[in-house]
Order: sequence, then structure tokens, then C-alpha cells
Amino acid sequence: MIKIAPSILSADFARMGDEVRSAKDAGADWLHIDVMDGHFCPNLTMGPDMVKAVRKVSDLFLDVHLMVTNPENFFESFARAGADQLVFHIEVDPDPTDKIKMIRALGCRAGLSLNPDHPVPAVLPFLEQVDLVLLMSVFPGFSGQKFIPESLDRAAELKTYIDRNHLDCLLQIDGGVDRANAQQIINAGVDVTVMGSAFFGTHNRGELVQYLKSLKAAEL
Ligand code: DX5
Ligand code: ZN
Repeated sequence: MIKIAPSILSADFARMGDEVRSAKDAGADWLHIDVMDGHFCPNLTMGPDMVKAVRKVSDLFLDVHLMVTNPENFFESFARAGADQLVFHIEVDPDPTDKIKMIRALGCRAGLSLNPDHPVPAVLPFLEQVDLVLLMSVFPGFSGQKFIPESLDRAAELKTYIDRNHLDCLLQIDGGVDRANAQQIINAGVDVTVMGSAFFGTHNRGELVQYLKSLKAAEL
């Protein structure tokens, strides 16, 4: 069954406490927190103080996606703020082993992300070191973008590698996921999907989560 990680970037910031509670009430598994520095990607969003605020009102697993150029400068602040998992991008460090170790030393789960134009083979050697690989299905920066269809083959390539090597690494996808393409991403072997605008843009959040969790991977 797929796990759902609503991205609070699409929530109503003026009502963040209620939004976070509604994600839990709807049956979401994780909360996805998009951190952008205006340098790695063209937007500024939130930092450790938001993680701290969300941690106060929710016991959900906090999945922090660091779209920043120097993620290592912030690992400790996010860990102290209550993050459960820290995910950074291969684009900022082609040899990410030291950063993965730093995250683990802080007691968090570690994830590695790749942009839509980054070759999949570049991350494969590191998947045995991480708990999760985050495949971007839009370019980082904004919620509400259109899903890039080539991401489905890239997801399947990652999943095949994970399964063949019996790795304990979840496959997550992020960007443009909605009710219409959910079946395809499940067929590609995705374990956890981020969902921003499609989740916070509906009032029937519980029904949406139920629907997504009712989908089974098609036998291919
Ligand atoms: C994109 C972010 C995503 C985004 C998801 O840069 O990393 O998490 O907010 O939002 P939707 O689901 O609307 O694409
Ligand atoms: Zn994200």
C-alpha cells in the first residue's frame, strides 16, 4: 500500500496547525516539508522553525526535503527541530557518503534526491547507504507543476535496481502527483508519494487518501 506524504508547501500557511491536523485525520502517513534556499532552486520557503512548529502539533513522521546548496550547514538545526528524515540532492554533492553519515549521526533517517535531468545511474551506487531515494518528477521550486511523464520509466529503473539488490531503500516521487496519475506511479513501484496541491487543494482529503491506498500495482 502506498504511503502518502502531503507537502505543507501547498497548505494554507495562516492555518498551518489545522492543515497539519487535517493531514493526520485524512490518514496521511508522513508530512513532507520543502526547504528551498533561493539558490539551489528559484524559491524561498521554510526552515527549522517551521519544522519545530509542526512538530509541536503533530506526531506524524516529518520528512524534510532540502533543496539547498549547502544542506550540511542545516542538518543539525533540522534534527533538533524534530525532523525524522533529511533528504538532500545528489546535484550538490556527487559523492554524498559523508553527508549521509552526518545525518545518521544525528539520529535521522537519510535520503538522497535527484532532479528530473540527473542520470539515474549516478545515484545507484549510494542506494545501499540510504533509507530513501526521492525522484523529482518536476523541477524543484514550486508546487502545482505538471508531472513529467518520463519520470515513470526512471522510477521503474530505480525500483528494479532496489529489488535486484535486495536493498532496504524506499522509492519516493515528488511533483505533480494527483488522482489521475496515481495508478501509473504505483505500477512503477513507488513506495511513498509526495502530494502538494492535489492534497491540500481538496476538501475530501480523507477520501483521496483512501482512494490512493486502495490502488494495487498492476501485474506487468
Ligand atoms: C517541488 C516540491 C514538491 C511540491 C509538491 O519543488 O519539492 O514537494 O511542493 O507539490 P505538487 O504535488 O503540487 O507538485
Ligand atoms: Zn519536496
